[in-house]
Amino acid sequence: MATKDCVKVAVRVRPFNKREKEAGGRCIISISANNLAIQDPRNQQSWRTFTFDFAYWSHSGFVRNTDGLFLPEETGGRYADQASIFEGLGQGLLENAVQGYNATLLAYGQTGSGKSYSMVGNGPNKGLVPTFCHRLFQFIKSHQDSRQCQVFFSMLEIYNEQVIDLLSKTSRSPGGLRVREEQHRGFYVEGLRKVPCESAVQVERLMEQGTRTRTTAATRMNTNSSRSHMLIIVQLKQIFSKECITKQSNINLVDLAGSERQRSSGSEVDRLKEGTAINLSLTTLGNVISALADVSLGKKAVHIPYRDSILTKLLQSALGGNSRTVMIATVSPADICYEESISTLRYAERAKRIQNKAVVNKGPTERLVKELKAENARLLLRLSRLDQEGRQTDQETKELRRLLTHNELQIRAIQTLWEQHLQEALKDWETQYTNITQERRMVQMYPYMLNVNEDAQLSGVIKLFIQEGNWDVGLEDSSPKSIPLRGLGIQKRHAIFSNQQHRVTVTPVSGSKVTVNGIPITQKTELQHLDRLILGSNNTYLFIGFPTDRATDDWSRFDYDYFQSELAAAEGIHLHSLCAKQDQRPVQSNPSLLAAFYDYIRLMPMVAEANQMSQELNKGVEFNLEIKNLAMSDSKGHDLEKEIAVRVTCVERKQVWMWSKAKFINRKFLMEELYQQQAEVGEGADMPPLSREKDPFWDPLEPLHLGSAHLWLQSLPFHIPVEEQVEVVGSEGTEEAMLQIQLVPCHPTGLPLGEDDILIDPTELLGKRLDFQLVMDRCCGLRWLREARNRGVQIGFQMFDCPQPLYTPAMWHNANPLLQHRVQFTALNTSPALLNYLQNSALVLQLWGLQEGCSDIVICLNGVMVTPEDSIIIDTAAISENMAVDSAGSELNPSLQALQEDLEQLKSSNVALRKENRALREQLGASGLSGALSLLSARGVDSGRGCRERRSSLRTSCDAQLARALKVFYHSMTSVRGQLLRLQRHRPSEDADLLGLRLFVDEHAHLLKDFGEQLEQCVSVLKQEVATIVRRKRDKSGGWS
Ligand SMILES: Nc1ncnc2c1ncn2[C@@H]1O[C@H](COP(=O)(O)OP(=O)(O)OP(=O)(O)O)[C@@H](O)[C@H]1O
Ligand SMILES: [Mg+2]
Repeated sequence: MATKDCVKVAVRVRPFNKREKEAGGRCIISISANNLAIQDPRNQQSWRTFTFDFAYWSHSGFVRNTDGLFLPEETGGRYADQASIFEGLGQGLLENAVQGYNATLLAYGQTGSGKSYSMVGNGPNKGLVPTFCHRLFQFIKSHQDSRQCQVFFSMLEIYNEQVIDLLSKTSRSPGGLRVREEQHRGFYVEGLRKVPCESAVQVERLMEQGTRTRTTAATRMNTNSSRSHMLIIVQLKQIFSKECITKQSNINLVDLAGSERQRSSGSEVDRLKEGTAINLSLTTLGNVISALADVSLGKKAVHIPYRDSILTKLLQSALGGNSRTVMIATVSPADICYEESISTLRYAERAKRIQNKAVVNKGPTERLVKELKAENARLLLRLSRLDQEGRQTDQETKELRRLLTHNELQIRAIQTLWEQHLQEALKDWETQYTNITQERRMVQMYPYMLNVNEDAQLSGVIKLFIQEGNWDVGLEDSSPKSIPLRGLGIQKRHAIFSNQQHRVTVTPVSGSKVTVNGIPITQKTELQHLDRLILGSNNTYLFIGFPTDRATDDWSRFDYDYFQSELAAAEGIHLHSLCAKQDQRPVQSNPSLLAAFYDYIRLMPMVAEANQMSQELNKGVEFNLEIKNLAMSDSKGHDLEKEIAVRVTCVERKQVWMWSKAKFINRKFLMEELYQQQAEVGEGADMPPLSREKDPFWDPLEPLHLGSAHLWLQSLPFHIPVEEQVEVVGSEGTEEAMLQIQLVPCHPTGLPLGEDDILIDPTELLGKRLDFQLVMDRCCGLRWLREARNRGVQIGFQMFDCPQPLYTPAMWHNANPLLQHRVQFTALNTSPALLNYLQNSALVLQLWGLQEGCSDIVICLNGVMVTPEDSIIIDTAAISENMAVDSAGSELNPSLQALQEDLEQLKSSNVALRKENRALREQLGASGLSGALSLLSARGVDSGRGCRERRSSLRTSCDAQLARALKVFYHSMTSVRGQLLRLQRHRPSEDADLLGLRLFVDEHAHLLKDFGEQLEQCVSVLKQEVATIVRRKRDKSGGWS
């Protein structure tokens, strides 16, 4: 009978990894009983709680014993080690399996969160799969009197919707194995190797073999293992001879692909997104889980999209079907992984609702044995009856005996098939065992290169021994003195390794890429123990020296990240250069900056691979990583976020594209597919031409964002015009152009306001009409045009709440184009929000590059309102007061915070000055009045007009003086702001060794000093001016009395 039960869900939090530790990561997860709480690192008051069937804390409270086992610090401690994970999840799985239920265990989580560690384990810390097999064989041994058991083991990988048999002895068939469907059996992989096993050791060897196949395939085919799903299928058959029943269960153990979510900022739609199976299986799994969760909530007629991917086909019974299923969701504890962890937890929460209907399975083959045995029993009964009745004939007995023997043979044949398979498997295993012992011997004799993979599970699997003499390493393996190596960017003869007189050297063959410790080499180079080698675009190896050179050092620190960080450092990219580390103290971790750094080193090898594929497929495009500084597009210039983008250049035609991280990853995957197709067709053979629309290396040309400039608006609320020359800065800090620009406060008709219209107190504007013009005069020194003349530019800007960005007309073929572009804006009823915006923000002017073949940016005026004079109306919405509250301050790192404080000081002195001005005006008003009164009494009423004129002319001239002083002040403030921006952008120099850092600190201090002095000067000039005005007014008013 079917039992109904929900998918059981466990969550596990791993220790910090090296990256997180280095970055001073903060643990944002806590666990209590079965509840997990996670804190939003950007809002520390915000916690979310999730409840699961099991919640495992493997983050802290552990020690490593002499065998390398991770155990709780004290007995009964909260640390969940591998054994307690097995007791919680594996034991139940085993019980279900031996009862004859199908059982499934899925590991889900972001890349590097501990899926494989939980499933497979690491060294002595064995994971669920090996322990499960170990316990299974223990169970079989202790129950061998009551039943006969058969265990079959299969291991497969799903990559890009292709099934690869990891235990197959023959080479991989193009397109992978087929998944078929049968009515009774459901979906299954046709021709998948099922290896009979008798012991846990045998299973472990098979897993090793599978991992090796996975590693070589990943290197050869240039694929990324964390994007593939690994599925282990253990089939258990139990034959209960006495009871004449058999039970069969399929146990699926699934290590899913990394569930990387694309960062929302980079998830714009790619035109080739549709055709991509980048993680079709994982996406479909999510859809299936969601649909099943809906069903459990009582929704009817929900379509469950099992058939949409290979993985969900194979897991159909595990999800909502005949299986008892457990999911382990693994998460990182670190603040930088918050987004990913939340997404994993939500996924797991949905999976909890899935209901399965498991039954005990009986297989058809055993039914046959049972029927044959029953027939034999009947035949024997007949024989004995005939015997008793004494009426048997020779003929009859012979026939019955023949039937009996035939049936026995058939039964034996069915049962011995298993024995035969087992013998074959044992023979295989022996050969493998010999190979393994031989490898162990060689490790003790020769230096070798050990593979390092992005996936820790696949690292250290391949060893390339360098015995005495010269060895050709490359694709060719015709000579006996060659070490075959396949992979992207590997030449036929790639490099010569030589082992002579206890020295190992590497010499690249001309034109091939060899990097040692992050530096490309072209000449013979001697290798030292633990040197890092990259051959071709991304074949990473750690050189292990002669046994005598090997100390008991820990090699594990030379992981994939180490290799990539070393390469990045050679390019001048350090974590510090992004995070501005101060005083050698840990960085006050800024999750987005760290994420940018790790994005960079993660994308770096992918970019190298894409370049190699482009070269081999003659695509003529080049890829380069860029770090985009988002402060460039922030109207306050505060945003410290960085984003990684990929610049794509067609060298010949000088065309440029900018791809987001998400788009690049998507395209890289399609490039791999194309590259593999070419490899399968064979070198030299021509593939059918690919239409441009389907070519992952191509995109229609689009305007390219070149950089931005900030025009501070603070003088506008005083009705003071501004004339500026602003620098357009590219996302990497390059000067892209200079822009001559004006902001002109004006009358509704467009006529500029005069000096007399200058306001002393901007709040006077509130509720009144404000008109001003933005005039772009000229753009000078356009780098984009200097590089290639057949290009153009447009400048875009979005003023306050204007619903659309506005653009200048396109200007082509001129590096210093005259713009003369004028736009008028009107606020009919100036709101506090607009005033705040003008006082504290800058207008961001975006420079767009046009290229031949791409169309101009069209201005869209949807929702834009205009006055009868064609002025664009802004400040239309009621905008909440708190918009102006700048929350970015809390995230600024210390030095910037200091700057922020300076700015605040400046603002408060500004406020004080304004107060002083107001007081002054009041004083003026009062003295004017008293003067008028005395004049009135002395000269009579008629002369009143002349006195009023004099009084107002005095006030006007003082106001004008004050306004001029303010104008000078705000003008100099713009340059102070510029200095602040420069400081924000200022990062340690690229080769930031200790000396470099010192220089940087000196320079930084210098800039800060400059900034302080400029600031000081601005304020003191203003104070002096104000003092002079006050003095003059006192003098003059003294003259009247
Ligand atoms: N609970 C844990 N205790 C100690 N180390 C762990 C734990 N979980 C994971 N690790 C370590 O973290 C690293 C990454 O883990 P693992 O390879 O299991 O990640 P993964 O989720 O399988 O990633 P991928 O999706 O790339 O395959 C490994 O070096 C592993 O040893
Ligand atoms: Mg893994």
